[in-house]
Amino acid sequence: MAKYKMLFLVSLLIGIASLHAQDPAIQKRVNDLLKQMTLEEKIGQLNQYSGKAVTGPASNQKTNLQEEIRNGWVGSMLNVKGVKDTKEVQALAMQSRLKIPLLFGLDVIHGYETIAPIPLAEAASWDLDAIKASAQLAAKEAAAKGIHWTFAPMVDIARDPRWGRIMEGAGEDPYWGSLIATARVKGFQGEQLGDTLSIMACAKHFAAYGAAIAGRDYNPVDMSEVELWQTYLPPFKAAAEAGVATFMNSFNTLNGIPATGNDYLQRTILKGKWNYKGFVVSDWNSIGEMLNWGYAKDTADAALKAIVAGSDMDMEGRNYRRKLVQLVKDNKVAIKLVDDAVKRILYKKFELGLFDDPNRFSNEAREERVINDRANRLVVRDMARKSIVLLKNASLPGQEDGLLPLSINTKTIAIIGPAAKAKRDMAGSWTVNTDSTTFVSFYEGFAARYDNSKLLYAKGGTVNASSEAEIQEAVATAGKADIVLLAVGETWDMSGESKSRADIHLPGDQEKLFSALQQTGKPIIVVIMAGRPLIFNSIADKANSIVYTWWLGSEAGNAIADVLLGDYNPAGKLPSTFPRSMGQIPLFYNHLNTGRPYTGTKENPKNKLYLSAYIDEDNTPRYAFGYGLSYTKFAYSDLKLSKTSINNKDSIVVTFKLTNTGKYAGEEVAQLYLRDEVASIVRPVKELKDFAKVKLGAGESREIRFTINKEKLSFYNKQLEWVTEPGMFQLMVGTASDNIKLKSSFELIK
Ligand code: BGC
Repeated sequence: MAKYKMLFLVSLLIGIASLHAQDPAIQKRVNDLLKQMTLEEKIGQLNQYSGKAVTGPASNQKTNLQEEIRNGWVGSMLNVKGVKDTKEVQALAMQSRLKIPLLFGLDVIHGYETIAPIPLAEAASWDLDAIKASAQLAAKEAAAKGIHWTFAPMVDIARDPRWGRIMEGAGEDPYWGSLIATARVKGFQGEQLGDTLSIMACAKHFAAYGAAIAGRDYNPVDMSEVELWQTYLPPFKAAAEAGVATFMNSFNTLNGIPATGNDYLQRTILKGKWNYKGFVVSDWNSIGEMLNWGYAKDTADAALKAIVAGSDMDMEGRNYRRKLVQLVKDNKVAIKLVDDAVKRILYKKFELGLFDDPNRFSNEAREERVINDRANRLVVRDMARKSIVLLKNASLPGQEDGLLPLSINTKTIAIIGPAAKAKRDMAGSWTVNTDSTTFVSFYEGFAARYDNSKLLYAKGGTVNASSEAEIQEAVATAGKADIVLLAVGETWDMSGESKSRADIHLPGDQEKLFSALQQTGKPIIVVIMAGRPLIFNSIADKANSIVYTWWLGSEAGNAIADVLLGDYNPAGKLPSTFPRSMGQIPLFYNHLNTGRPYTGTKENPKNKLYLSAYIDEDNTPRYAFGYGLSYTKFAYSDLKLSKTSINNKDSIVVTFKLTNTGKYAGEEVAQLYLRDEVASIVRPVKELKDFAKVKLGAGESREIRFTINKEKLSFYNKQLEWVTEPGMFQLMVGTASDNIKLKSSFELIK
């Protein structure tokens, strides 16, 4: 261990990112082992199988898989989990000739047993420490279950809320996405691989999977190189620089070439320009899918194209297993390509310490202790509160303050809605290991804190449909209350992989239910629990308050109650734009200006003729990137720039005063945007370049400071070089991408 630390320090000292530093001692062990391996054993390492019951009750694959593992023909398993099972399966690998341990991988996306908010929700927290802590907890629990490797974080930029996997990422912004990628990698992996509290991370899906045409999962992607580099690659680059152990390629094509068979992505960029030393796993049979794409004529051709393009491990496809030996024997695939892939995989197994003890992650006592530790709940509750976004908080007639927070004991409250008692839905996608009956529903969280004699409940239907009778019962219940809390949203299987939706309106009759309740004249607070940005225009227009909670995980109900009752002042800001209409999609804040920009808004429309606009809809979103309210208010003032012109070696210090002018202590996420006015390639109307999450007591002020340097002014030019160009920059500081409070400008000179 000490040796690793030394190596880490030395690499820092000489300014090399730790990922590029390879330990010569491990390299030697890898090379020595490689020399002993037969061709079959080498190719075995490139082979990953899914097996829920390799050693359990009879499964079709049982005999076959056991034998393959014993023969040393399997490098990794996914979906084998738990100390008992991992030990049993690892024991098979220990019967193989060279006793090369298996890697156990699993999709631990936002928790193993204790479930954190979905990743998109966490991105609304603007709290990198909390995001890192959440990944750390997921790693700790997974590691205690004998898992070495998570297929996370998903760092795909997503600008299309029809795409169900938007829930798995950090939203639409490359800057914020890159910071989150780093935080999650560091959270999962800890200080160094080999620590049994941590697991290997996997940056996926390389690349541009989030840009699937029309938001339909697995669809092709076509985009310019500049767009790829400027928007979609940065979080991957950040993950690589943070030392992510593995990459996963993706199901999509990029400009006509499947990502799995894409040597430009995997060899030129990842292993070339970025000098990435970890390994690349394919997505689930994405190698075999190249046949369907029409990019490979048969399995052998697919295997050949994938290995040549730099895909190191074949997930569940058996293409390498079936075809690579012969391809090498026929001199169609150079053995050095196979050796390189094997070395990358073996290196990680050594780093994890599996050769010294193949069961070092699998310990019964630790499994029991870690999984049942109730303290884990505190981590996800903290994360959940921070992920909630307050979208609206109007005051009742004659009152000054917003309806929220609710006072703890004054009113009779009707909790209504299909999501009110939901538990499984709070887990969202990728949470097969948890027992969601232990989750805290919204109703339970609220009821635990509120005088129960003053709580009424009606379900009002399901997320998919409400009958007249259900609506009438809900209306009658609302009629007996002073305030209505309406919980609506999506069920867990409406967002996630292969859950693209052509219509992202709040599903079923939930808006109809809202309108019926509205007729009662009671104040309504709407709590929306969903896996993606939804459209809910009548609620947006007419509800008194709206709280967007996403899917918050195990502690959902407690976290929502914390916010509604004012024990926690919400501070979340949207990481994704919420459109007004389906037809606006894709809609994102950092777009280009057009030659005919339309500057009207919904509130102040202008003549649209021959301008870039819709005749039947506004251009603006319903809720913009970076938007989110607090129970208190913030004022921005006194913007100062230390200089108004700089060169590439210089920096500008930007300061301004942030004041909490409201009645509650609270946090604000102040955002810094820049616009490069004129450049050799058209630049976005604004780009997020920094932010500060600041906690201020009522009445308190603080000076906030940002530094602008060359890095923040750079972009990819037509030649894909990361450059700056002299000229004017607009500087904007605001509370949301569409609510800029302070403006200035400066010049970059040669
Ligand atoms: C998904 C990956 C996931 C893999 C293994 C695929 O369908 O695209 O993100 O890691 O399955 O479960």
